[in-house]
Amino acid sequence: MLSAMKLMLTLFLSGIVACYGGNANYNSILLVSFDGFRADYLKNYRLPHLQEFIEDGVLVEHVTNAFITKTFPNHYSIVTGLYEESHGIVANAMYEEDTKKKFSELNDTDPFWWNEATPIWVTNQQQENRRSAAAMWPGTDVKINNTIPHFFMKYNHSVTFEERMENITMWLNNSSPPVTFATLYWEEPDASGHKYGPGDKENMRKVLEQVDNHIGSLTYKLKALGLWENINVIITSDHGMTQCFPHKLIKLDDCIGRGNYTLVDTTPVAAILPKNNKKYVYNLLKNCNTSMKVYLKEEIPDRFHYHHNKRIQPIILVADEGWTIVQNGSLTKCKYFHPSCSWWLILLNFYFYC
Ligand SMILES: *[C@@H]1O[C@H](CO)[C@@H](O)[C@H](O)[C@H]1NC(C)=O
Ligand SMILES: *[C@@H]1O[C@H](CO)[C@@H](O)[C@H](O)[C@H]1NC(C)=O
Ligand SMILES: *[C@@H]1O[C@H](CO)[C@@H](O)[C@H](O)[C@H]1NC(C)=O
Ligand SMILES: *[C@@H]1O[C@H](CO)[C@@H](O)[C@H](O)[C@H]1NC(C)=O
Ligand SMILES: *[C@@H]1O[C@H](CO)[C@@H](O)[C@H](O)[C@H]1NC(C)=O
Ligand SMILES: *[C@@H]1O[C@H](CO)[C@@H](O)[C@H](O)[C@H]1NC(C)=O
Ligand SMILES: *[C@@H]1O[C@H](CO)[C@@H](O)[C@H](O)[C@H]1NC(C)=O
Ligand SMILES: *[C@@H]1O[C@H](CO)[C@@H](O)[C@H](O)[C@H]1NC(C)=O
Ligand SMILES: [Zn+2]
Repeated sequence: MLSAMKLMLTLFLSGIVACYGGNANYNSILLVSFDGFRADYLKNYRLPHLQEFIEDGVLVEHVTNAFITKTFPNHYSIVTGLYEESHGIVANAMYEEDTKKKFSELNDTDPFWWNEATPIWVTNQQQENRRSAAAMWPGTDVKINNTIPHFFMKYNHSVTFEERMENITMWLNNSSPPVTFATLYWEEPDASGHKYGPGDKENMRKVLEQVDNHIGSLTYKLKALGLWENINVIITSDHGMTQCFPHKLIKLDDCIGRGNYTLVDTTPVAAILPKNNKKYVYNLLKNCNTSMKVYLKEEIPDRFHYHHNKRIQPIILVADEGWTIVQNGSLTKCKYFHPSCSWWLILLNFYFYC
């Protein structure tokens, strides 16, 4: 992630230099995320608008996401330049023992969780004569360091891409002081990847065609408003997607009684808070299944950069790629999950236009 951010900054700089001299006396950045856009979708599907975007700009092919590969943590890494242990959004579901506070995707607006770092929209807006705007992105509807984007939307997955795009481009076009940093977030192709599996060519083709059309309408809109010459657009994603299998299922109930622990976050990287005897819980889990790595917090390998935060639970379970951790039950209708260990995969895509 860090090297990716450096690369991004280098590109920003060269971009701004190359664009300097346009009509406006400032440049703005629009950061766009299509959730769960796996790197190889670009090679395996016809995406003409995205291809055109890339031909006009720069494609960064190798970007590694941060561990763990979930939506909230990785989106916050992108906008803070920090590993998860440093920015504090260490999972999609969190619990803090001291304060007894809980964080979930549905209950994420307590600033407490976000205040360990400062995202770029806050830094931007704290400069003189600059505003930030957000058509969603985890954290943009929360007052972080006492600052919320001047223009923002409350997270609501039912708001269409069209409405998000109309509003963000309107804010970019019509604001004084100007909007110099803006975000745009869209739930696809992640939602379809989970529903159908990334290997479902027919359904993934359909949703990727829609994503591509969204990119087409966004560029069209920016050009129509005369914004294109003075804006740097980054299209990126938070993680990839891997296929799971009904027979690759690790059932915790077969190994350990539920009364021994609280399951704070779930597959493919599960967070375990032992009730009493940590060593006992650890040993039961350690012998559970060879397709699941079990780490005491202090044993988590340094390369994960996932250790120095009290929100990281005492025991972390990491499923091998393709495996799913559950307490009980089966995967009759197999769901699909982000790969748990992905530093060796090319997962984050990153496009740059100036
Ligand atoms: C959301 O989390 C806060 C802080 O942990 C808690 O006080 C509140 O009851 C939660 N709200 C809901 C709807 O769960
Ligand atoms: C919050 O913003 C103020 C400036 O308004 C800054 O001095 C301070 O360091 C920021 N705090 C964090 C944690 O970013
Ligand atoms: C988008 O902008 C319109 C017009 O200002 C406004 O009525 C609408 O509520 C905005 N949509 C969202 C989701 O904020
Ligand atoms: C979410 O957006 C949909 C579609 O615009 C709207 O009908 C609904 O009322 C919104 N929900 C909330 C909680 O604002
Ligand atoms: C864009 O901004 C310009 C200059 O402020 C304004 O004249 C124009 O009406 C705006 N367009 C839209 C669609 O808001
Ligand atoms: C803990 O797990 C063991 C092994 O499954 C089980 O025998 C025991 O009843 C569990 N203890 C509690 C408190 O659930
Ligand atoms: C791991 O789980 C699979 C699927 O439930 C099972 O077939 C296998 O026996 C387990 N392996 C071990 C070592 O427990
Ligand atoms: C899983 O656990 C729940 C809650 O204890 C129980 O209701 C359900 O029957 C269990 N399912 C299976 C397949 O064991
Ligand atoms: Zn995601």
